[in-house]
Amino acid sequence: MLFHESGCEHCHGANARGTQRGPDLSSVGRRLSKEQIEHQIHEGGKQMPAFGDALEPAQIDDLAAFLQTKRAAVSKTGRSTR
Ligand code: HEC
Repeated sequence: MLFHESGCEHCHGANARGTQRGPDLSSVGRRLSKEQIEHQIHEGGKQMPAFGDALEPAQIDDLAAFLQTKRAAVSKTGRSTR
């Protein structure tokens, strides 16, 4: 899976649930648009490296589409809220 292979997991954790190095992305789709997510991946952030050189545009597009679907459908207890 791209999220794993690209090293996102290193900071954002398995299933994007977050670590000390990076925030939980499991509801990022609620707050950010796909364009904003793409921008974050491409340009990086305050403490996040930019992946614009490391990834193909199509891969960034895939990752953004994947994260856009993350709207905290699963609560902290693991139960679906939908
Ligand atoms: C070195 C650690 C690190 C890696 C690797 C990393 N991130 Fe991040 N990421 C962060 C940190 C820290 C933030 C929060 C603040 C900032 O912008 O620096 C963040 C923020 C984000 C945000 C915005 C979250 C929000 O709520 O605004 C997205 C989306 C994101 N990362 C996606 C990714 C993706 C996709 C990858 C893999 C291509 C990735 N990150 C790899 C550390 C990392």
